[in-house]
Amino acid sequence: MSKNSKFGVIDNDFRDVLSILMPEKRIRVVGLHCHLGSTIDDVSIFSKLFVLLEKAVEDNRDLLGDVRIINVGGGLGINYHRNGVGSSSSTSMPSISDLSDALPKNSPFTIMVEPGRSLVGNAGLLLTQVLGIKRTDSKNFVVVDGSMTELIRPALYRAYHTILPVERRHSGKVRKIKKSKLFVGLETARRGQQ
Ligand SMILES: Cc1ncc(COP(=O)(O)O)c(C=O)c1O
Repeated sequence: MSKNSKFGVIDNDFRDVLSILMPEKRIRVVGLHCHLGSTIDDVSIFSKLFVLLEKAVEDNRDLLGDVRIINVGGGLGINYHRNGVGSSSSTSMPSISDLSDALPKNSPFTIMVEPGRSLVGNAGLLLTQVLGIKRTDSKNFVVVDGSMTELIRPALYRAYHTILPVERRHSGKVRKIKKSKLFVGLETARRGQQ
C-alpha cells in the first residue's frame, strides 16, 4: 500500500503492524485484504494485486503462517451513460466472470472479491412524474416528484445518472419520448454530467 493511499497499512509499516497483532491472543490473522477502490473498469489490476498480496504472504510466512484468504477488494464499474435499456453500451464494463477469469484458478488461497454496486446498481430505477414547468429566459425547469431525498448522488457529489423520458400510452405501456421535450428541466438530476 502506498503512503498516498487513504486505505490500509503502508508497506514499510506492514511488519511492524504484524508484530503488534501476532502476540495478541484474541486475534488470529487468517487473511490479507487490499481495497483497490471503486468503479474499476480494467480487471487486469486484480491479477496484479493478487500477485502482490501472494508475495506479501510469502515474504512474511514466519508471521503469516495461518493466512488462507486473499481478498482483492475493489468494486467493478457500472455504465452510468447507457442510452437505454438493452443498449450495447451497458455491456462495456467488466462482469463478475471477467473478474473471475482474471484471478488464478488453482491458488492455494481462498480468493474473495467485493464487486460492490455492480451487483445491484442496474437492478433499479427512479420513476418520477412531471408536476409542472417553470420557464425563464435562460432555462426551463421541470418540477418532478422526485428529489435528492430519493436520489442523493447527483446533489451530493455530482454523480451522473442517465434520464429516460417516458410517457404512458392508452395501452398502458410506457415508451420513450423525444429527449428534448423533457431534458432541459431535468437538468438538476443530470448536473453531474457537466
Ligand atoms: C471495503 C469495500 N469493498 C468494496 C467497495 C466497492 O464498492 P462500490 O463499487 O459500490 O463503490 C468499497 C467501496 O468503497 C469498499 O469500501
